[in-house]
Amino acid sequence: MESSDRSDGLVRVIERASSLIEHVEMQSLLEDTIDAAMELTQAEFGALGVVNDHGRIIEFHHRGMSSDATEMIEGPPVGRGLLGDITRHGMVVRTDDVKEHAGFSGMPTGHPDMSSFLGVPVKVRGKTFGNLYVTRERSGFDMQDEISMKAIAAAAGAGIDSIRMSDELRERAVMADRDRIARDVHDSIIQNLFAVGLDLQLRSDAARKDPALQAALDGAAVAIDASISELRRLIYDLHGDLPRRGSLAEEISDLVVRLGSPYAVRPELHVKGEIPELDISMIDDVLQIVREAVSNALRHSGSTSIDVSLSADERSLFLSVTDNGHGFEVATAPWGLGLTNMRTRTKRAGGELGVVSHHDLGTTVEVRLPVPGGPGSV
Ligand SMILES: Nc1ncnc2c1ncn2[C@@H]1O[C@H](COP(=O)(O)OP(=O)(O)OP(=O)(O)O)[C@@H](O)[C@H]1O
Ligand SMILES: [Mg+2]
Repeated sequence: MESSDRSDGLVRVIERASSLIEHVEMQSLLEDTIDAAMELTQAEFGALGVVNDHGRIIEFHHRGMSSDATEMIEGPPVGRGLLGDITRHGMVVRTDDVKEHAGFSGMPTGHPDMSSFLGVPVKVRGKTFGNLYVTRERSGFDMQDEISMKAIAAAAGAGIDSIRMSDELRERAVMADRDRIARDVHDSIIQNLFAVGLDLQLRSDAARKDPALQAALDGAAVAIDASISELRRLIYDLHGDLPRRGSLAEEISDLVVRLGSPYAVRPELHVKGEIPELDISMIDDVLQIVREAVSNALRHSGSTSIDVSLSADERSLFLSVTDNGHGFEVATAPWGLGLTNMRTRTKRAGGELGVVSHHDLGTTVEVRLPVPGGPGSV
């Protein structure tokens, strides 16, 4: 072969190989790989078999066979014999007479006749992905063809790797987006609706003297509750579960850190013993009560320390928020939304709320919530 022919050939191999790496879609990459292999080796037939971990061909792509011939063949190769040598042992197989080859286990019925065979493994990150092979009816393949095939297989492996990587990244981005949307809906919209629902309920209690107004307010509260349920269902569909950052203790810890960040006081969390798995509405209750109690301590108490503690027995969950601030008159202070929300939530959950405050000693908010499923609960 003239040296200029050889360098022309090399240029073509490099061109085809580098164009393979740029593919962004698997099917077209595999097809183009076979085309490149056939073109560079002037083969009549080319195929690429993708194998599973057991070396079995699970996907078979081929070019250069008429659709009549394809229909006549019993089925794609299973990946034993010759093709198995390539994938199982990572061998390059080059032979002028395929039927004479030690690994030959017979051609499927209807398969076009072929005598010269050249096959190489396709590897992705060192792991066998499949086999790439070309065939000719007459003249055999040479060393130059073998080198071209290896280059094409290596480029295909790199292309497959990058497509898999970008598919995975895209999938992760979608999951992260879903996570974020689910959490946003949960944290902001559901909480806001919850607060509106509570407000309506309070106004309904206050509207006892006006039954028509009370009925309207009750109706609105029911509608809000239905919307909350609907949103929870939507989040469930989007996410598979309500969004959680971690255990309840971790969620409380995240929350108090976020609440405390604008202040000099660092609220501390103490978890005593095991906390059982709680359902989502109870987790909501705990988090909202912590939120209100801790933000009151931060905003109103002038304290230098805030302790949040959580413990449980088989029947109940105990939560307390204690500050060492100046305290307030619980009986006479005008209750705002914070204390009211805490009380309403606790009542709804069938629990108890206690607020104890001493002038210049500080305030403790104590909550007991029954654990559903525990003894004594129905
Ligand atoms: N830990 C505390 N230390 C001192 N005062 C408190 C404490 N917790 C509550 N208070 C007093 O009780 C009042 C009522 O609290 P509540 O949480 O109900 O309403 P708010 O904090 O004023 O408003 P909101 O919670 O609706 O934003 C507060 O305004 C404050 O005067
Ligand atoms: Mg408050």
